[in-house]
Amino acid sequence: MIETKKLTMQEAAAELERIAKEVALADAAYYQDDAPYMSDAEYDKLKRRNSDIEKRFPELVREDSPSRKVGAPVKSIFGKVAHRFPMLSLADVFSVEEVKDFIVSVKRFLNTDNDIAFMCEPKIDGLSFTARYENGIFVKGATRGDGKEGEDITENLKTIEQLPLEIANAPSVLEVRGEVYMSKADFFALNASNEREGKKAFANPRNAAAGSLRQLDPQITRARKLSLFAYTWGEVSEKMWDSQKDFFVHLQKWGFPVNANNRLCQNIEEIEAFFEELTEIRAALPYDIDGVVYKVNDIALQERLGFLTRTPRWAVAHKFPAEQALTTIDNIRIQVGRTGALTPVADLKPVNVGGVIVAHATLHNEDEIRRKDIRIGDTVVIQRAGDVIPQVVSVLTDKRPPDSQEYVFPHICPECGAHAIREEDEAVRRCTGGLTCPAQAIERLKHFVSRDAFDIEGLGSKIIEDFYKENIIKNPVDIFTLKKRNGGPQTDLFAQDKHLELEKREGWGKKSVENLIAAIDRRRTITLARFIYALGIRQVGAATSRLIAKNFESWAAFAKEMKAEQSEKLCSIDGIGESMAHDIVEFFKEEHNLLTICQLQEEITIEDFNETINTNNPLAGKTIVFTGTLDNLTRSEAKAKALAAGANVAGSVSKNTDYVVIGAVPGTKAKNAAELGISLIGEDEFLAMLNA
Ligand code: IVH
Repeated sequence: MIETKKLTMQEAAAELERIAKEVALADAAYYQDDAPYMSDAEYDKLKRRNSDIEKRFPELVREDSPSRKVGAPVKSIFGKVAHRFPMLSLADVFSVEEVKDFIVSVKRFLNTDNDIAFMCEPKIDGLSFTARYENGIFVKGATRGDGKEGEDITENLKTIEQLPLEIANAPSVLEVRGEVYMSKADFFALNASNEREGKKAFANPRNAAAGSLRQLDPQITRARKLSLFAYTWGEVSEKMWDSQKDFFVHLQKWGFPVNANNRLCQNIEEIEAFFEELTEIRAALPYDIDGVVYKVNDIALQERLGFLTRTPRWAVAHKFPAEQALTTIDNIRIQVGRTGALTPVADLKPVNVGGVIVAHATLHNEDEIRRKDIRIGDTVVIQRAGDVIPQVVSVLTDKRPPDSQEYVFPHICPECGAHAIREEDEAVRRCTGGLTCPAQAIERLKHFVSRDAFDIEGLGSKIIEDFYKENIIKNPVDIFTLKKRNGGPQTDLFAQDKHLELEKREGWGKKSVENLIAAIDRRRTITLARFIYALGIRQVGAATSRLIAKNFESWAAFAKEMKAEQSEKLCSIDGIGESMAHDIVEFFKEEHNLLTICQLQEEITIEDFNETINTNNPLAGKTIVFTGTLDNLTRSEAKAKALAAGANVAGSVSKNTDYVVIGAVPGTKAKNAAELGISLIGEDEFLAMLNA
């Protein structure tokens, strides 16, 4: 990478553009999908480089520059709660030396040479909450927000079983604070079920907890198992405790979960031993921790020490170092997804990273490999920053084998041998093999049965893979002919002599086969929108499928125009652009796609589009365009909600647009809308209209 100060103006402009794009992608993954892929350190480095370049070339500052963005989007759909007592943060230290300095500064402040007792607590990696009790009744729950004002999560907190809703013998006003988290076990279970349903996995338990707690529908929060630990207080009418230890006794008496590893330490030796012990047991704990918190135990001393602007003087967080390890890259492997996207993965010499054996790391895409110059045989620093998928932080080029070669991203699909091409402006390279590519075929089958498509219970990812490999289900039609084929010869021409006897598969029996067949039969009638979505046409998501269904009304009408390669009507739909229309027409040009659909129609019924629109909704019949990142809804959720309210969703602003909904970091659409005099509305207003 060229040093900032050596960049020419042209290079600087290109670099600013690249960084803006990368940061936008990382932001979307973090805020929209709760699925970050970039480490915090790497993200900060990008932003720093951006501002360094901008300092040298102020005239190049882009409208979408990361430096113009305000920090984390403020979630606005939840009501606000002003904290009567601010919810503070803790100063971080990273070494025993710094802990000693902290203790010295505490003693100096208190003007004492005596040892001071500290309550040492695991630092839970979750989200802080505050729960307010009035006369023993839980009345209000909030997140930390910016420390002064948080979001009202009362109803969501109530769904967490561990939170007592009534407490006895407590001060008349009491705010209990602590951390909401998701246990490692619940996190893995949630991700496994998300995966079965074809939904995105969360990157780590903290993201999963955040995504679950900030659900508009508390019933979803309830379904995601969340846990909590209580560890401090906010406003209280009468303090009945004189030490942190004593406070824990009260918390337990009231029924709050208190961490069993909390320990009172009398001096630095005991503190050091506690930190070492926790470092050792960290991996085995059923929840994630990212350090240890030391708090002056005596409340009278805490009160004398008081606060700095954002942190107390009486406590500090001793953070664990990022979990990194050195290992070598044995191989770079390419995974092929449903639409043929080639994703590079590094196979590593297995290495223990903070208690977890890591054997793979994601390399994201072709450009990322080039940017970091990652090669097979390289010694690399691997990091698990609380994330499940480890990242390659850097390459130790001095350890590189002398015969090492720059990694050449394949232009041929490793799964099927078809050409893999990269369109201009795309980050990914794709296999052109379509369904002849087994990897794509399997991923498409998974998509076909996923929740927003045919939604077939019991046909999860693993079964699809097994059935594909065993030649039981090779294409969507095979799903619906399973019933009549069971007991008869296999579909596979080479295995015609074999009989298909699902009951005899390991772990299966009559009942499981009956259940599966029944689940398939329940889906023999499907709405037009779901059917179009199930086809897995590139760029055609659930919202677009609905738009097509709404405009064409029947499969016959849609298929007729597509087969005739007439895309005028398609393109005239607000929300469908030329590139998408092109992909749809291309899909219909493929003989095997037409054959599959034809055979499917013998097995299933595609219902015509028929919807009674709620004309009472202010959004009914209106055309809406979204721009920027919404705080509480993913783009697809927002689209689905708008469509359900009878609105049309378009991809770009035109004179037919009624509203442009702006999220954080809006793009040029907002500007275009303003120029055309179209109403710009915020997410709050949009949600209010939806609910009207
Ligand atoms: S005490 C004024 N204790 O760490 C002191 N915080 O980096 C307030 N945290 O915002 C915090 N475990 O979300 C405290 N045992 C613990 C904690 C803890 C996790 C979190 C909390 C806080 C952040 C500060």
